[in-house]
Amino acid sequence: MEIIHVSAECYPVAKAGGLGDVVGALPRYQNQLGHIAKVVMPMYRTKYLYNHQWEVVHKGGANLGYWWFEYTVIKEATNAQGFDLYLIDIAGLLDREKIYGYDDDTERFTAFQIAVVDWIAKWSHKPSVIHVHDYHTGLIPFMLKNCVGFRNLADVPTVLTVHNAQYQGWMGWDKSHYIPEWDAWKWGLLEWNNTINPLASAIKNAWKVTTVSWSYLDELKYMSNGLEALFEYEKGKCSGILNGIDTEVWNPETDKYIDDHYKALDVKRGKAASKEKLCETFELDPEKPLFIFIGRLVGEKAADILPQVIGDSFYHIGRKMNFLILGSGEPYVESQLEILKAYSAGDYNVYIGYNEALSHQMYAGADFLLMPSRVEPCGLNQMYAMRYGTVPVVRKTGGLKDTVIDYGEPDGYGITHLYASVGDVTQAVYRAIELYEDKKRLKEVRKQMMKLDFSWDNSAQQYINLYSTLQ
Ligand code: ADP
Ligand code: GLC
Repeated sequence: MEIIHVSAECYPVAKAGGLGDVVGALPRYQNQLGHIAKVVMPMYRTKYLYNHQWEVVHKGGANLGYWWFEYTVIKEATNAQGFDLYLIDIAGLLDREKIYGYDDDTERFTAFQIAVVDWIAKWSHKPSVIHVHDYHTGLIPFMLKNCVGFRNLADVPTVLTVHNAQYQGWMGWDKSHYIPEWDAWKWGLLEWNNTINPLASAIKNAWKVTTVSWSYLDELKYMSNGLEALFEYEKGKCSGILNGIDTEVWNPETDKYIDDHYKALDVKRGKAASKEKLCETFELDPEKPLFIFIGRLVGEKAADILPQVIGDSFYHIGRKMNFLILGSGEPYVESQLEILKAYSAGDYNVYIGYNEALSHQMYAGADFLLMPSRVEPCGLNQMYAMRYGTVPVVRKTGGLKDTVIDYGEPDGYGITHLYASVGDVTQAVYRAIELYEDKKRLKEVRKQMMKLDFSWDNSAQQYINLYSTLQ
């Protein structure tokens, strides 16, 4: 099969979170299964662009409403990622450094999607399936079925993967003319709650919908930022396929970002060496258990409760542990975390920003990873942590619930708690310290986690099976 993934992110070209990791890995695993998986994404001005060789494969033009734009499709010339990678350039819209966060994101991603479909419509053959990811590519299933100019693609199967239903890409009806000429009576297929909702539209129009864990699929029916009734109504075509992790990129034996490589057998030595360096950089005490948090500092991740969790842990448990945080997001949370340094120097530090190398060094050097998420569709951090022998301390929700079993349960290895509350997380920190002090149990838990198989092999095949039902 020829599978076209369309996405706003793809590691290492451009990544803001887990979506990038997934789209950067899944196609390679699908190719290994004997298929032809390709990725199409916007041509942002990131480092990757300048460090690789490209060839122009197509030039075209289309309308975004009344505005005519030209687009160029380039292809990475050396197959560096293990799949065909295409970037679409649109001057004035996509030629920027960042992925998201601009006032004209609606225009940027709508034009990108139009260019993708316009280009594919000109191929001499049709792909077996177009797989779109999240709302940034959510108008594509509608356009394929309902735009007059793309009728030749109406029978191309589409699959939507919902990585995060919090963000839906709402746009007012005043922008409906952006979408190339479409059958006006089909407006209901674009709409949810009186506005154009690209994610809702994709759920309605895609042939199949997947979410990135089984528990998240259940949760969406009662907690999906307004789309609950839609997920309930469309449940017949929805299924959960758990994300895998790229075991080549995330491997403590070979990781290019860490100096002291290790495997399960010498995890104690390897982690101690990485921890030593990390603690030196951030002025922490390597003798104490090190808790880390890595991620977007937003409500979904419950990052706002971290300052109080840290304060309360010191107060109730004592200064028996260190905390190190890496992330960026809401300015209020960032400033609270910065302020905390003044009170907790020596036991706490924070790096505000995005730093891929540091994230790897932290997974390697930490003892525990905190993930108190309010919503976590899948979560990759906990899987990376476990591969590096770092015990995840997670809230029982979404993909966290599906991947982490509390070490108090049979065959368990992580630490779980029920609520994203300061009390629950602090209690979990207390349990983590108990585990840290029980050296024998800690050793067993680390070994057990490092044996778990979170590779893509299984999930990549599940996607293939799903596409096969559509052929
Ligand atoms: P989400 O996609 O919701 O942000 P995931 O757990 O699926 O959450 O994936 C997050 C990914 O982004 C992981 O690869 C994590 O290491 C990475 N990440 C998040 N924040 C940062 C940061 N500030 N610096 C480096 N990597 C980060
Ligand atoms: C989203 C989710 C995260 C998931 C990732 C990749 O960003 O928030 O839980 O792991 O997508 O699917």
